[in-house]
Amino acid sequence: STLSDAFKGHPVHHHHKHPDFTSLQELPDSYAWTQLDENSTAVCEGVPVIDLHDPNALQLIGHACKTWGVFQIINHGISTSLLEKIESTSRSLFSLPIQQKLKASRPPDGVSGYGLARISSFFSKLMWSEGFTIAGSPLDHFCQLWPENYSQYCDVIDEYEREMKNLAGRLMWLMLGSLGITKGDIKWAGPKGELKDTCSALQLNYYPACPDPDRAMGLAAHTDSTLLTILYQNTTSGLQVLKEGTGWVTVPPISGGLVVNVGDLLHIISNGAYPSVLHRAVVNRTKNRLSIACLYGPPSNVQISPLPKLVGPSHPPLYRPITWSEYLGNKAKHFNKALSSVRVCT
Ligand code: SIN
Ligand code: FE2
Repeated sequence: STLSDAFKGHPVHHHHKHPDFTSLQELPDSYAWTQLDENSTAVCEGVPVIDLHDPNALQLIGHACKTWGVFQIINHGISTSLLEKIESTSRSLFSLPIQQKLKASRPPDGVSGYGLARISSFFSKLMWSEGFTIAGSPLDHFCQLWPENYSQYCDVIDEYEREMKNLAGRLMWLMLGSLGITKGDIKWAGPKGELKDTCSALQLNYYPACPDPDRAMGLAAHTDSTLLTILYQNTTSGLQVLKEGTGWVTVPPISGGLVVNVGDLLHIISNGAYPSVLHRAVVNRTKNRLSIACLYGPPSNVQISPLPKLVGPSHPPLYRPITWSEYLGNKAKHFNKALSSVRVCT
């Protein structure tokens, strides 16, 4: 797909052999980031929790997007049983022997598959995590992972992805709705707001318990190159977001809850009204942790730009038009400065 092509621009600075975490009793030097002192001071409250059945959900979401760029949702309509199924499917995958998982390795120039976090190539230290990306059909990989019974796993992934995509569409309209954007304002949506050809991918992350969590990093700080991301985290905390003026804030797991964060593309189309939140995952000494992200974006070759309604004499456009594919290629070249690289120059 064109989206996969865009990811191929990623520089690869190193080819690390993927570790077998179960055999590591001590943190190897290659995993030792500078002391994460800020961890000890991470605040554990503040990220808004929003009930989607709340009559004020629209306003609450708008406020959360402006002030945090992240919020948690409950009463989102995704059943507990589906969340349990996707969690156990992901756990089955990560608990396979390493040789088996490597059969589904992400190819050097590809997106889908098993391996290190995709942002690994931008950092000299390794992250204490393993991941599996599914963009498109899980079938190719899953028949290698579970030659005898892959279809049950594929069914769960398909169902989860379908439901997440619907939820992401609903959320997008809510997030934009509170800025006064209505269905007709988005060119790539149908007249009734139908979101055809939007792209989504699933990212499964596994963070094994770590012998030296204060010096290790599960997933380094980044913003998501999406419109929005919906994250399911199991009961172990680890996700932190950077809040201006406060520092790193832990997003505590809540039962049945999902975390929603603004991505770079929503930041662009909101003309900067919504910040694309910087976030990372820290690790734990005794507990392993699992998270499942649905990465949601527009059709990959449609140009997105600050929406006309949000641009005016006192609000000049901050960003130039760009497609998702182009943006990803851009980010690969200017990691951590991705948004500034598409700024309109004045
Ligand atoms: C992510 O940023 O993709 C995942 C973060 C997490 O595991 O909480
Ligand atoms: Fe992320």
